[in-house]
Amino acid sequence: MPKHIPVLLSAVMKCLSPKKGGVFVDGTFGAGGYTRAILEANPGASVIAFDRDKTVLPTVEKFKKEFGNRFTFIQDCFGQVDQYVTTPVDGFVLDIGVSSMQIDTPERGFSFRLDGPLDMRMSTEGICAADIVNNWPENKLADILYRYGEEKASRKIAKAIVNARPVTTTLQLAEIIHSVMPRPKDGSDSAMRSFQALRIAVNDELGELERALLASPKILKTGGRLVVVSFHSLEDRIVKEFFKENSGKLTHQNKYAPQSQVVKGIFELPNKKPIEADKKELDQNPRAHSAKLRWGIRTEKSL
Ligand SMILES: C[S@@+](CC[C@H](N)C(=O)[O-])C[C@H]1O[C@@H](n2cnc3c(N)ncnc32)[C@H](O)[C@@H]1O
Repeated sequence: MPKHIPVLLSAVMKCLSPKKGGVFVDGTFGAGGYTRAILEANPGASVIAFDRDKTVLPTVEKFKKEFGNRFTFIQDCFGQVDQYVTTPVDGFVLDIGVSSMQIDTPERGFSFRLDGPLDMRMSTEGICAADIVNNWPENKLADILYRYGEEKASRKIAKAIVNARPVTTTLQLAEIIHSVMPRPKDGSDSAMRSFQALRIAVNDELGELERALLASPKILKTGGRLVVVSFHSLEDRIVKEFFKENSGKLTHQNKYAPQSQVVKGIFELPNKKPIEADKKELDQNPRAHSAKLRWGIRTEKSL
């Protein structure tokens, strides 16, 4: 099984700074890197972890044996966090995106480099990438590639996909994209943006992020920390705007937004700029290269 190296771990821990008796929600358990660090940092701290992917269950069992009732696991989406967490907690951390286990396991269908079925479902339930690629109308497919992959050649790629239907494997899809979009000279892969777009659509990743952010002030105590690590500009933009709107630092407030929906001052922002990986971390873990950490501290202001 491919190993997952936790990204920006020491920065995440500095932001959360677990205290004795503190309760933390890890919305993206994965290989349990953040959860373990919290539980080991303070023997009095406990973690409620979420993951929608049931393949993490063997790791969950090991954590239960090792940490007993300091560790609770919920197999569901972090967007539902406020349905489970009803007593305010000290921290809520999200490390969004896919784990190394997911991307490096060909049968999960996330990678444009490894051959596998066109799946991409984190939860292994619901619609998969093949359903979208083979059944959605060309214009809707192009819209997804443009919106979630920021792919400028979305129409050309969507047309090529529709002409090649049925598309059943990851490498078949990558080849179709390569046939209309030559690989750039910088060593990147022209299939990357389309794969990202399909993954976001299959897992409703941006909707999940928005729901979790909106739920966060409800589940955090005064002084509780919200820490979000994201991996591409679409996610980072959502996190950045959320903190801006809710810290009272919004400079261009939308005049059409109902005032009741604009809640200012519920987070304090210790860092203006996002925290990124340093050279040492990048040398050890190239996957950290696009990671951005933004965080806020819940103020006492009520909602
Ligand atoms: C990048 S990995 C997290 C790795 C973890 N921080 C560690 O150190 O091992 C992301 C994990 O979050 C899960 N995930 C992604 N979106 C989710 C969501 N909306 N709800 C619950 N889990 C989600 C994925 O299944 C994956 O296991």
